[in-house]
Amino acid sequence: MRIYDIIYKKRNLQTLSKKEIDFVVFNYNNGEIADYQMSAFLMAVFFAGMTDEETFYLTDAMANSGDIMNLHFPDTPTADKHSTGGVGDGTSLIVAPVAASSGVCVPMMSGRGLGHTGGTLDKLESIPGFRVNADKKEFLGFLEYANMALIGQTREIAPVDKKMYALRDATATVESIPLICASIMSKKIAEGAKTLILDVKTGNGAFMKSYKDAKELAQKMINIGTFFKRNISAVITDMDTPLGNCAGNAIEIKQAVEILKGNLKNDLSELSLELAAMMIFNSQKAPDMKTAAAIAEKQISSGAALEKFRQVIKMQGGNPAVIDDPDGILPKAGNSLKIKASRSGYISYMRTREIGIAAVMTGAGRNKKEDPVDHAAGILIHKKTGDYVKEGEVISELLYNSSANIDEAAFIMSDSCIISDEQTKRPALIKETLS
Ligand code: URA
Repeated sequence: MRIYDIIYKKRNLQTLSKKEIDFVVFNYNNGEIADYQMSAFLMAVFFAGMTDEETFYLTDAMANSGDIMNLHFPDTPTADKHSTGGVGDGTSLIVAPVAASSGVCVPMMSGRGLGHTGGTLDKLESIPGFRVNADKKEFLGFLEYANMALIGQTREIAPVDKKMYALRDATATVESIPLICASIMSKKIAEGAKTLILDVKTGNGAFMKSYKDAKELAQKMINIGTFFKRNISAVITDMDTPLGNCAGNAIEIKQAVEILKGNLKNDLSELSLELAAMMIFNSQKAPDMKTAAAIAEKQISSGAALEKFRQVIKMQGGNPAVIDDPDGILPKAGNSLKIKASRSGYISYMRTREIGIAAVMTGAGRNKKEDPVDHAAGILIHKKTGDYVKEGEVISELLYNSSANIDEAAFIMSDSCIISDEQTKRPALIKETLS
């Protein structure tokens, strides 16, 4: 079998066998297939798609590229949530400590920035010392100690997703239902959580722009999760507007800390609490969603979720003082550039994908897979869909150290909002729940 022939076959819209898919995954994982060949394969899948069988074989092969954890903690259910990716989507940073402090064990395996979207691992690494790499033994130790871990794919757990994910980020091969499905579900199956909540984004800032595609992706992931005996649900949520008040790394950590302190309420806190409540309810830690929502709220008002985050930061080598003094501990950008409204009126539309691209251009994301990210860089978003702005009022602010792409980022941002005379209501944040 040769990778050349498999790329050729997929490029010509043919269906691959389990053996061929196993060959690709196994040999890319062990270095026999080069990055340029895998990039061509991913682009062929992007255009040709995959059948349900092929998507299943890909997910299975990727999950089995390492160990599949069989987590079992007496009296403590295991649950995780995963988002398909969005701009300003820092939900994991809030959901995980809220669920873990309420007695659910959260073995969260996340990703880095992908395309125009940010990644939980890059955000966490803006906390000085925070380590997202852990081997299997350490991962289990974290879960036993804190009921929670925030790690990336490892050499032992979902290793091939780590390589494919980084390659897709740099080769414009992200927006593909089979590739997203296999990437997410391989990690989630391998990490071992029994209950899974998927946050499937739809809108102009999501990888799935149309509702139909988002639903198809959600349904495919649910089918695969069910096959692997996971208790799995999905929510389809809005990504026509960035979540929260910023897109970047350190700035999203600061925002999460403020939400966990109960100092900030916005669409990000609302969605995070809903997702945490679903984890609590679906893990049978509450008799109904109303009780689960009250438990989630309580984790914030009592300070328990904040203390859980502090404990996990310390456990994973980070400086826990970030909780008390985020401004003093997190890296800060040397420069800022304010973007002002060109006229008065209501923001009726936000070009959310472009805002994500501008955030990458500030240095918050990568152009090549080897690139470091600038943890201090990003965008503060002061006004969002539905808000009234006066001509000349600051609507967003670029934070940066390197000015290499700032003119282009500023140009994108100055055109990122449509301002109209009539007020537009923001679309519903949570559109549908599927299980
Ligand atoms: N999250 C992932 O882990 N993988 C994707 O492909 C998209 C979002």
